[in-house]
Amino acid sequence: MGWSSSSCTNLFPASASSHLLAVTDVSQLLKSPRLLFRSQKQKQCTPRVLAYYGLQKPPYKLDALEPYMSQRTLEMHWGEHHRGYLEGLNKQLAKSDILYGYTLDELVKATYNHGNPLPEFNNAAQVWNHDFFWESMQPGGGNMPILGLLGQIEKDFGSFTNFKEKFIEAALTLFGSGWVWLVVKRNEKRLEVVKTTNAFSPLVWNDIPLVCLDMWEHAYYLDYKNDKAEYVNAFMNHLVSWNAVLGRLARAQIFVNLGEPNVPVA
Ligand SMILES: [Fe+2]
Repeated sequence: MGWSSSSCTNLFPASASSHLLAVTDVSQLLKSPRLLFRSQKQKQCTPRVLAYYGLQKPPYKLDALEPYMSQRTLEMHWGEHHRGYLEGLNKQLAKSDILYGYTLDELVKATYNHGNPLPEFNNAAQVWNHDFFWESMQPGGGNMPILGLLGQIEKDFGSFTNFKEKFIEAALTLFGSGWVWLVVKRNEKRLEVVKTTNAFSPLVWNDIPLVCLDMWEHAYYLDYKNDKAEYVNAFMNHLVSWNAVLGRLARAQIFVNLGEPNVPVA
C-alpha cells in the first residue's frame, strides 16, 4: 500500500487501511517557504499528506464488561493509556515518511527490525496489542470454547482444563509487565501458550495470535488492586470471547494445516 503525496486527485487512496487516516496538513503550506513555493508553482495541487493511525474503539460500550472490568478501567485503560501509545506513535511517525504506508501489523514487524527494534516499535506494538485485547473480550464471555476450537485445544493441551491452568499459570508467573497469548505456532503446527514482556508481540516471531491478556498493572489495578489471580480468572470465566478466537483460528488455518498430514493416494 502506498501513499500519494504528489497528486491533487489521489490524496486518499482507496486501498488505504481503515486504520489509517490521511491528513492534509495545510498549516505546513503556510509555514514552509519551500512548500509554499511549490504550492504556488503547481497551483496548490500538492499539499503535503501525512498518514496517521486512528484510535480504534472496543467493539462494545465502555460499561459493557461490568462488573468484571469496570467502565472506569476502560476509560483509563483505553481512553488514556491506549490513546497515549497511539498519540506517541503518530508523533514519532510525523518526523519522517520512511514508515508511512504500512498496516499496523506490518508496522509492528517492520519496526521490530529483526530483533533490533526501532524507536517506534514499543508504541506500534502496544497499539496493536490493545486493539487485539479489546477484541479478545465480549460481554457475557468466558465459559467453554465451541466446535473446532475446543477440539484443537483438547488435541494440543490434552484437555480444556489443562489449557486453562497453563494460561493462568503463565499470567501469574509473568515477571513485570507484559502479555499472555494463545497462539498458533506456524512451524510446530499446534496451539501454544506464550508470554511476552513489555510491548512484545508474538507477531514478530511469525506466530499467529488467537487471544491475548494484558498483564500490565494498568489493566487490573482499579478493579482488582494486586489480586492478579482474581483478574485472570475473571478474564477466563467471564470475559474472553471464544467466538472471536474461533474466527481467528479459522483464518489461521488458511495458512497453517493443524490437522494430520493428508497424503494423497497415487
Ligand atoms: Fe494495557
